[in-house]
Amino acid sequence: MTPNLDRREFLQVSAAAGLGVALPGAAEPGGSRAPQILRSGPRPVVVASANGHRFTNGGTLTCVALAFDRITRGADVLDALVEGVSIVELDPADHSVGFGGLPNADGIVQLDASCMHGPRRRAGGVACLEGVRTPSQVAQSVLAHTDHHLLVGKDAQTFARQMGFTIEADLNTEHSRRLWLDWKRRVDPQHWLDPEKRIAAGREAGLQMVREGLIDPDHYYGTITCNGLNARGELCGVTTTSGLAWKIPGRVGDSPILGAGLYVDHAVGAAGSTGRGEANLYCLSAFFAVECLRRGMSPKDAGLEALRRVQAATLEKRLLNARGLPNFGLSLYILNASGEVAGVSLYASRYAVCDENGPRLEPTEALFPGRALD
Ligand code: GLY
Repeated sequence: MTPNLDRREFLQVSAAAGLGVALPGAAEPGGSRAPQILRSGPRPVVVASANGHRFTNGGTLTCVALAFDRITRGADVLDALVEGVSIVELDPADHSVGFGGLPNADGIVQLDASCMHGPRRRAGGVACLEGVRTPSQVAQSVLAHTDHHLLVGKDAQTFARQMGFTIEADLNTEHSRRLWLDWKRRVDPQHWLDPEKRIAAGREAGLQMVREGLIDPDHYYGTITCNGLNARGELCGVTTTSGLAWKIPGRVGDSPILGAGLYVDHAVGAAGSTGRGEANLYCLSAFFAVECLRRGMSPKDAGLEALRRVQAATLEKRLLNARGLPNFGLSLYILNASGEVAGVSLYASRYAVCDENGPRLEPTEALFPGRALD
């Protein structure tokens, strides 16, 4: 885990930003201490994809609720966010992240993650990582223990082992293995087709499983991304995923790529993404959205502007629906340095947020009406 800011860094950050400080609060009747926030600083907030307020892994708190609690009690923001997304990574009920995430075309769960620590200007990521349930924590170890930003494949796993993570032979659950077998059965007959048709058939088989309700549309490209801000104005983010269901082994999506699945500029804001990684990689939407914030846009306008870029870059017929619009989902979750948040998406969706009013799901601002496959 990333240690808290040392005193010198803390003073630099606070002085530079002119921000308030979260103080331990007065003891409550039960003996616990409620966090107390000086109002001169930004309001602490955590924003995430909707699965950030859906899964508890058998506990009582969702990702955003736990991260907000930790942040307002003075924890390092990135530590709090990684602890939050780890709930979802460890919960096999989310089929898009960590343990039980849908595997690649060979039936192997390969995970991607990245994280950024705004105050420290440090980043870490892993891609194609096998055997570790919590890739976000390995990404954080890359940030904390190396001079590098991204480790991939077998060597990422070796690094994780060296850092003391448990390596498991297989991260499939009964459920993910059954779905993979179903997908395999559907695409096997297509092996006699030419490669282009086979790719189209594989994609169509996956989308048909979504239409039939076998796969939650949010879990086909599913991911969790979570950004947070404390009352000292410290801004961090994390994104973690099992990536596209049934992907070609070795495929890396947007999640571990700085500027695509995640971007944090400490002075400006943060953005994270879920949805079709290829569309996002092409446009580096998280970086673009943060640049829009820098130019003075609100989180909502910055996110919608980034999604318009994605639409403009989506030309291929196979990626368009009957209306000529993108036939995939892509969402951005944006937080500016003042604590304003927005969730935006190509089509109606929801996002998770937790602030002084508690954890909840909110509707995203959708660029287009209807659904991706309409
Ligand atoms: N956004 C997750 C992925 O495409 O891998």
